[in-house]
Amino acid sequence: MIIKNICCIGAGYVGGPTMSVIALKCPHINVTVVDANPDKIKEWNGPVNNLPIYEPGLSDVVKEARGRNLFFSDDIAGNIEKAEMIFMAVNTPTKTEGEGAGMKADLRNIEACAKDIAKYSKKDKIVVEKSTLPVRTAEKIKEILYEKSTDNHFEILSNPEFLAEGTAIQDLFKSDRVLIGGDDSESGQNAVKALVDIYANWIPKEKILTTNVWSSELAKLASNAMLAQRISSINSLSGLCEKTGANIDELSKAIGMDHRIGPKFLKASAGFGGSCFQKDILNLVYLCKFYGLEQEAEYWHQVVRINDNQKKRFAKKVIDYFNGDLSGIRVAILGWAFKANTNDSRESASIKVSEILYKSGASITIYDPMVQKRSISNDIKNLWDTKVKLNDKRINIVEKISETKKCDTFVILTEWEEFKLIDIEESKIIFDGRNINHNKNKISIGK
Ligand code: UDX
Ligand code: ADP
Repeated sequence: MIIKNICCIGAGYVGGPTMSVIALKCPHINVTVVDANPDKIKEWNGPVNNLPIYEPGLSDVVKEARGRNLFFSDDIAGNIEKAEMIFMAVNTPTKTEGEGAGMKADLRNIEACAKDIAKYSKKDKIVVEKSTLPVRTAEKIKEILYEKSTDNHFEILSNPEFLAEGTAIQDLFKSDRVLIGGDDSESGQNAVKALVDIYANWIPKEKILTTNVWSSELAKLASNAMLAQRISSINSLSGLCEKTGANIDELSKAIGMDHRIGPKFLKASAGFGGSCFQKDILNLVYLCKFYGLEQEAEYWHQVVRINDNQKKRFAKKVIDYFNGDLSGIRVAILGWAFKANTNDSRESASIKVSEILYKSGASITIYDPMVQKRSISNDIKNLWDTKVKLNDKRINIVEKISETKKCDTFVILTEWEEFKLIDIEESKIIFDGRNINHNKNKISIGK
């Protein structure tokens, strides 16, 4: 099948950057990103310095391709109909109710997409799963497609996203690998080839791996689980360092110099965040349990538990320093994003740490260079277990770092470059969850 038109459903952190890069690298293909949220589409069509997501390099890519062969639209039906290939890049959070709540992925958005594809397709389509999905979701998608549409042939591919936020554009330009899973049948293999040909426009062929759908789906969960497991391993060792006087940075360096282990993802922190790690591991735990693999489920679950504990342990360090009572202490929370160079705060350690400090009596002043005030207050309103009033005087969200100056204590939770340069008075205490080098009165993870 020759691909002339791609439609991507979901204009978020995955769909937006991925489609922008495909459009940039494949000027012969029209790429249209659609979304159920028309306001988001408006923002994607607005000024490039105000796109709905912040990613270094993204605005340049959008500037070049938008209007040429990259389009953002709220016409879901028309663009599904026109495309030969449809990517699903909708969010799949962990279920909050019903069977598998707290673990299983919520597939409602994926199911809604499949229904739309079935409804609006008037010819054969290749449907590509881009969102992280539980193993064997492709079967479920197929069921929905064929239940609602009997005249067309649908080929389902799995093409998991491995980009990391903050470096998404670079990750897309120079992927370590591109993984494509498809059926063994002739039409399945033709569909795989159609997608390989798209990536081959800029990714060397030897980095494009093809496999079956299930291996591809599982590889994504497993990759994220292994990365997160390294962080929980080093974080658990940071606890031991605090007790024994060893230095976690030196430990990390020594471990990482073994070429069989390598240095990446061994940085102790106040806990990993982001929309993927926890969700994917819980998904893996659910799968293991489903197949009766209790020990294996427990093994992976512990990675998440250590992460939860790390956030609490870090907050406790601050509280212990003030002998258990933070009443009257003005704490600056520096960083709300789950990592630097993104405006995404999903599962950010800051959310939990700041809540614990607030509950211990602190007045908190929150600053992040990229996360909007509105998102921070929504996180507090929706994600804190402690309910707070909108006009609570002990919570202050500020737009300039200079407005945190009056605070007594600084808790750094995101590794923004800006925080490396700030001038904090000698007398103030810095609690450093991200190993940013301030040689002042600093108390870090592992020390
Ligand atoms: C992750 C995977 O890296 C990516 O391949 C996948 O497609 C999506 O999930 P992302 O969540 O965007 O990407 O960011 P990542 O760089 O993996 O960081 C995740 C969290 O781990 C952040 O909170 C980061 O601060 C933390 N982290 C990372 C550590 O605490 N220590 C480290 O050594 C590395
Ligand atoms: P991710 O990090 O997985 O990209 P985001 O939340 O950033 O997640 O983006 C997912 C996007 O998918 C959102 O903009 C949301 O509005 C959109 N979306 C979810 N379900 C549907 C659907 N059924 N049809 C169209 N768009 C959808």
